[in-house]
Amino acid sequence: MALHRHEEDAETPLDLRVTLDPELIAPPKLRLPAGELPPDAAYQLVHDELMLDGNARLNLATFVTTWMEPQAHALIAETLDKNAIDKDEYPQTAELERRCVNMIGSLWHASPGDGATGCSTTGSSEAAMLGGLALKWRWRERRRAAGKPFDKPNLVMGANVQVCWEKFCRYWDVEARLVPVSADEPRLTPERAVAHCDENTIGVVAILGSTFDGSYEPVAEIHAALDALQKERGLDIPMHVDAASGGFVAPFLDPELVWDFQLPRVQSINASGHKYGLVYPGVGWVLWREAEALPEELVFKVDYLGGEMPTFALNFSRPGAQIIGQYYVFMRLGTDGFTRVQQAARDVATYLSGEIERLGQFELLSRGAELPVFAFRLRDDVSGYTVYDISEQLRTRGWIVPAYRMPEAINDMAVLRVCVRNGFGRDLADHLVTDLRDAVHAVSARGGGAPSDDSFHH
Ligand SMILES: Cc1ncc(COP(=O)(O)O)c(C=O)c1O
Repeated sequence: MALHRHEEDAETPLDLRVTLDPELIAPPKLRLPAGELPPDAAYQLVHDELMLDGNARLNLATFVTTWMEPQAHALIAETLDKNAIDKDEYPQTAELERRCVNMIGSLWHASPGDGATGCSTTGSSEAAMLGGLALKWRWRERRRAAGKPFDKPNLVMGANVQVCWEKFCRYWDVEARLVPVSADEPRLTPERAVAHCDENTIGVVAILGSTFDGSYEPVAEIHAALDALQKERGLDIPMHVDAASGGFVAPFLDPELVWDFQLPRVQSINASGHKYGLVYPGVGWVLWREAEALPEELVFKVDYLGGEMPTFALNFSRPGAQIIGQYYVFMRLGTDGFTRVQQAARDVATYLSGEIERLGQFELLSRGAELPVFAFRLRDDVSGYTVYDISEQLRTRGWIVPAYRMPEAINDMAVLRVCVRNGFGRDLADHLVTDLRDAVHAVSARGGGAPSDDSFHH
């Protein structure tokens, strides 16, 4: 989480006069108040403070779920008091987690006989740490057994990986071998991946759904290139698939795509339950293809119904409510419902990207036809304003559409990105197109000659 400095000047009190009882003693902003507030007053105080946050439904920056059904709210609220690690005390929550792991294992084509194993996590970042740790431990064991040095592990991945992988490498002393990407292929390619592998490579990470533009990396092709590498140089390199978003999209919308445990090198896969798994923030999943893919030394046992249950996690205590939320979504939607929801998101994304292209100022980097996520930039012949100006201007209507730079090597390219999620329908998409058109008018009028109306292809 964000790091905050302890400040000296803590005297400024909060101002309670407008909305709360003026007789109440105003609490300080940065120190624990000496006295109590009535619960209503405390609620109002915090509630009001949060008015300045953005509107989550209009936040197109995030992959993370911002809408669930009222029944899911009810269940989550009912179960906020459950600690997921207390398996003995809340055995039924543990049972729901077990069922979720099984359902996800089948979605990702785990072979029933192979003993695939998995768990919930706080999100894909923790899942990535666990997947990466297992790869590192297994590589070290192989090297030790062969009497070879094991002090310079590296992990090969595209420079477009989400920051959690760089974090994994830094925290666990692994060289992050970031493979440069290019403007025409801003993702990991098979040739680039194998060119960066050597005997110290603990694994290759392929992303099913790049954070930068929503495109799928070619997992099967990377896998085939690693097969060829093994034939040529004897290097047997495992893969982890970061399916943070795609893990809950591809199985429903792209059933023909081979990216998961059908590929033998794929040892582990992560996904965020709180992204296209359609649950509010706080849940992810990681699975290993077979029991041996997860070294025993990484597993800790907790009490469970008079026996013991194996666990693998960075945290100990964690909310159980999101796991329950995930089970609700699985029960509620099933395969048909997931297909319907994800298809609707993809339809809105491809429609919206097409409309944005038709405005005339923008060039699409992707269309939302893989993840329902797309990135676009200003055409080279557009000048006088930037994507940052557009992003800021859209804020005046409440839209949160981030502008950011692409990864190293192509970081002279600044883009806007839209994540379409459950709860963002065609009507909202139409409003966004109108507001984007207006935003372009406004910033071009400010920044340099306003474009003539002809430059808009309505
Ligand atoms: C490809 C990818 N991996 C990992 C993550 C981190 O996921 P989480 O936010 O669930 O920790 C993200 C988040 O956007 C992502 O897009």
